[in-house]
Amino acid sequence: MNANTNVMGIVLAAGLGKRMKSKLHKVLHPVCGKPMLEHVLDALDAAGVGRKVVVVGHGADAVRGALGGRVEYALQAEQLGTGHAVRVAEPLLGAEDGVTIVVYGDTPLLTAQSLEGMLRLQRESGAAATLLTAAFDDPTGLGRIVRGADGGIERIVEEKDCDANERAIREINAGAYCFDNKKLFEALAQVKNDNKQGEYYLTDVIGIFRAAGLAVQGYCTADADEAFGVNDRVALAEAERLMRARINRAHLLGGVTIVDPAATYIDAGVTIGADTVVYPGTTLRGATHIGEGCAIGPNTDILNSTVADEAVVKHSVLDKAVVGPRTTVGPFANLRPGTRLGSDVKIGDFVEIKSATIDDRSKVSHLAYVGDARVGKDVNIGCGVITVNYDGFSKFETVIEDEAFVGSNVNLVAPVKIGKGAFVVAGSTITQDVGEDDFAIARERQTTKKGYAKTLKARLKAQKNR
Ligand code: UD1
Ligand code: CA
Repeated sequence: MNANTNVMGIVLAAGLGKRMKSKLHKVLHPVCGKPMLEHVLDALDAAGVGRKVVVVGHGADAVRGALGGRVEYALQAEQLGTGHAVRVAEPLLGAEDGVTIVVYGDTPLLTAQSLEGMLRLQRESGAAATLLTAAFDDPTGLGRIVRGADGGIERIVEEKDCDANERAIREINAGAYCFDNKKLFEALAQVKNDNKQGEYYLTDVIGIFRAAGLAVQGYCTADADEAFGVNDRVALAEAERLMRARINRAHLLGGVTIVDPAATYIDAGVTIGADTVVYPGTTLRGATHIGEGCAIGPNTDILNSTVADEAVVKHSVLDKAVVGPRTTVGPFANLRPGTRLGSDVKIGDFVEIKSATIDDRSKVSHLAYVGDARVGKDVNIGCGVITVNYDGFSKFETVIEDEAFVGSNVNLVAPVKIGKGAFVVAGSTITQDVGEDDFAIARERQTTKKGYAKTLKARLKAQKNR
């Protein structure tokens, strides 16, 4: 095997995952926002794997729907064991020369670094197989690595088939393997199901190789979490915790301050620039990108949004929003899909924005709803302003041009346009366009009765005492 060796991948994902008690197929459950199966596939991609075959069975359609054309599929109609599962990929890969990595779809913490290390060892040693092992204090449920007198790996024994001595072995099979492709399928043809579970075990290939005098290498990972398999929701929560710690650590090392990593939830794939500070209770999800020098949180939920450098977002919710540089958001703002804020914008407390562009230096400081709107530069939108964008059937647009001033508690009944530099008086209900530099007032004129409050109070008091 050399650097140009053909490297293929097989991911086993045909099992039912019954203990998840879920309508969603086990390997599609997200860990830090990304399905377990995608974590595994991303690791394979990062390790330079070419053709990838996912073995599907239970939930095959859901898995195909989630991954689409990214991989090839082999159908394992009946789940007869992991060895049988790999064999169903033979029609696709059996004729190839090269190395095949086999992994399980329920081990999301497996890293590309380990796969690369295994490939390197396989390449250097010329072994028939290299497998990932780890030392566990409590190896319950996992296959044990049996080593011979010379220290070499002899075979793997599944826990259910262990005798007392084997059960005491701490070194376990982490469930990731590099195989010489041709030798793998030759050996699989010899695997029998004469074990406690009546299954065809992939792990038996190791003993078959050794019996044939072929070399098998162990690649021991220091990070035992890599072998962590998810079988129920307790394990899912634990995998999430481990992955979260990994993600946060990478951001910390990348120059991001996370005040309390235990209370900060960042999805895989989120990017954050250096010198940004993330305060507790913050959730950054999906395709979210945060610039440098920002202050995010506390208690902020950002989904699929982009926040530019030096922006401040506190106690707020953002969904598919774009926030420009030095713009401040919150506390208690709700930026819904289609919000686009320019630079140096101010969005204050209890402001909701949806499908609206708010250009540079404009302010919406308090208690407002701006929806289906285009707001220009240097606009002031007063407290309590509402774009009345919906008549119960259709949505209409509001346009507010540069330097306009919209006073407090104004209703802008869309479709309507406020021209450049126009002034709308507080409390107005605007139903017609206001031209450039015009002044609009649309409210009842006030009447004040001189001294009448005193008269009224005296009369009411007399009534009460009667
Ligand atoms: C397996 C290993 C064990 C290892 C452990 C690491 C075998 C026999 N044992 O045990 O040595 O320590 O993983 O986590 O391989 N699957 C199929 N088709 C099948 C059976 C399983 O696609 O017929 C898939 C499952 O969906 C799952 C994966 O293979 O994603 C592993 O199967 P599972 O039954 O969970 O194996 P373990 O008992 O965990
Ligand atoms: Ca498992």
